Amino acid sequence: MIISVLTQVFIFYIGGLLILNKKLSIGILIIILNYYSSLLDSIQILIEFGKEYLSAEASYDRLKKSVKDSFLRKKITKKSVKKIEFQNVSFEYEKNHKLFDISMTLEKNRIYQLSGNNGKGKSTFIFLMCGLFKDEYHGVILYDSLEQKELNIEKMNEYMISICEQDPYLFDGTINENLCCKTKKEKRADLRRLLIDFGLFDKINSLDNKFETQISSLNTILSGGEKQKIAIIRTLISDGDVLIFDEPLSALDKKSKIVFQEEISKIKDKIVIIISHEELKKIKKNIVLIKLAPKEENEI
Ligand SMILES: Nc1ncnc2c1ncn2[C@@H]1O[C@H](COP(=O)(O)OP(=O)(O)OP(=O)(O)O)[C@@H](O)[C@H]1O
Ligand SMILES: [Mg+2]
Repeated sequence: MIISVLTQVFIFYIGGLLILNKKLSIGILIIILNYYSSLLDSIQILIEFGKEYLSAEASYDRLKKSVKDSFLRKKITKKSVKKIEFQNVSFEYEKNHKLFDISMTLEKNRIYQLSGNNGKGKSTFIFLMCGLFKDEYHGVILYDSLEQKELNIEKMNEYMISICEQDPYLFDGTINENLCCKTKKEKRADLRRLLIDFGLFDKINSLDNKFETQISSLNTILSGGEKQKIAIIRTLISDGDVLIFDEPLSALDKKSKIVFQEEISKIKDKIVIIISHEELKKIKKNIVLIKLAPKEENEI
């Protein structure tokens, strides 16, 4: 930035001198400045492309490894879990910048609230738990005494864990498919009740194709809060033993925040993890608080 400003000042200075000496016209100086500006834009695009490329390459390597793992190595398929143990689990994206260092046990029939300032690694911790960085963390993650590294991660995420992401993801398909992709048919009665309680039932029925309306990740039919509600309901009715909600309240209105907490308090036989900066007043007394921080700051 400083270099580009200095270069521009330099061009102006030299250009000014040349114009004064009648060796350059103002028109030519403007053309030179235009070329200089497009050159800067191109350099910027190249730098951005370089960054995007590196990040895409890392994701591609992870994906390749995971596909290779599931095809080549014999992995254990686990469809249910009672207890998840973290033994000195730490992770860093950049060398010597440890996000957290944590030891704890998560058990069924408990609700855990994960807190910590922005950027402390809460979402990363959830990704870790779901097996996204399975060869990159330190420590041990045990699912009922089986090491995560030995488990078939794809199956684990298909059957055992359901996550409501911080940026709710809607895939290309109908509203119905988006709601029911992780649940069995018998949960349809619950689904109707949840849609009514969250104030979505009438909204969906007012659409031309109702529950068969096509939506996508780029959808513009639904508001941010409505998208978040779909992701929450999808997770609430899912069959997995572990339900994770990453900032589920961020786009919800007051009434829906209460509905969410009431629904959470009804859940039985599951490990529930909620990442939130808000005080969950309605379920406060049943919550185990976890603060995510590097070991020296850890207050668990
Ligand atoms: N793929 C990545 N590569 C490098 N650094 C990353 C990557 N993803 C996240 N980070 C960095 O890791 C840190 C933790 O990110 P994370 O999203 O886990 O934080 P968070 O606690 O969920 O924050 P928030 O409360 O804002 O949601 C941040 O500083 C972020 O910039
Ligand atoms: Mg986050």
